[in-house]
Parts: sequence; structure tokens; C-alpha cells
Amino acid sequence: QPQRRHYHEKVLDHYSRPRNVGTLDKSDISVGEGLVGAPACGDVMRLHIKVDPDTQVISDVRFKTFGCGSAIASSSYLTELVRGMTLEQAAKVKNTEIAKELCLPPVKLHCSMLAEDAIKSAINNYYKKNPDVKTTSLAGR
Ligand code: FES
Ligand code: FES
Repeated sequence: QPQRRHYHEKVLDHYSRPRNVGTLDKSDISVGEGLVGAPACGDVMRLHIKVDPDTQVISDVRFKTFGCGSAIASSSYLTELVRGMTLEQAAKVKNTEIAKELCLPPVKLHCSMLAEDAIKSAINNYYKKNPDVKTTSLAGR
């Protein structure tokens, strides 16, 4: 079945050649860190985003995931997806979007949830470190 092959190809590609693995300097004020776990299986994902202070665009992103293949593939795909997005855009990324791209089966949906949680957590951490930024962007609406 082509659908099946497609699923395996994309997941395996990200799993065997994960993009943007690593960490950024989290003492840098422009770096936000997300650290989340999946209660169901204990898998853990750490995500770092570097944000351009003027444009709010995510200029760099790294991850480390201690987890299953679908979790690693989801985080790898997420890093490609959010690089170049504004924080506002990245905050809207849904796990279903990731699951759809990778054709994850229902039992693996929570693996993509880990990626959604991680980017939200990293964005929140960035806002916490830069409280004035959020005020500005909300006021500018
Ligand atoms: Fe074993 Fe996720 S449950 S790696
Ligand atoms: Fe738990 Fe994939 S099995 S994150």
C-alpha cells in the first residue's frame, strides 16, 4: 500500500537523519527552552529556539529527544517547520499537522503531541525571559 510506504519513508527519514539535533546556549536571553515529557510513556523532549528580538522570528532551533522513533521524527520535522516562523505562527502549530505530515498512526499521536507541547513550552519560556516583548506585540495588534 502506497500510504504505508509513505508513512515509513517520512518517519524513517527523520528518524535516521534527524534535523537540527543539539542545544543552544540557554543563558542567552534570546533563547527559549521547552522541556516536556509524555506521561503515557516517559519519553522526554527538549527544544531550544533562538528568536530575533526585532522581528520575533525563530532564527534557529535545536532539539534533543529521548524517546521513540515517532517522537524523534516529530521533533525533527517540527524544527524544520518552525524555523523562520514568528512566535505567533509557531504557537499555532498543531500536533495533528505533524502527525498528518508523518502519517502517524493513532497510537503514535501522543508522540507528535510532545512536539506541540515542546514548542509551546519554549515560546512561553522565551516570553518569560523577555516579558516586555509580549506586551509590545499584544499592544501592537
Ligand atoms: Fe518506548 Fe516511547 S514508549 S520510546
Ligand atoms: Fe511515547 Fe512516542 S511512544 S512519545
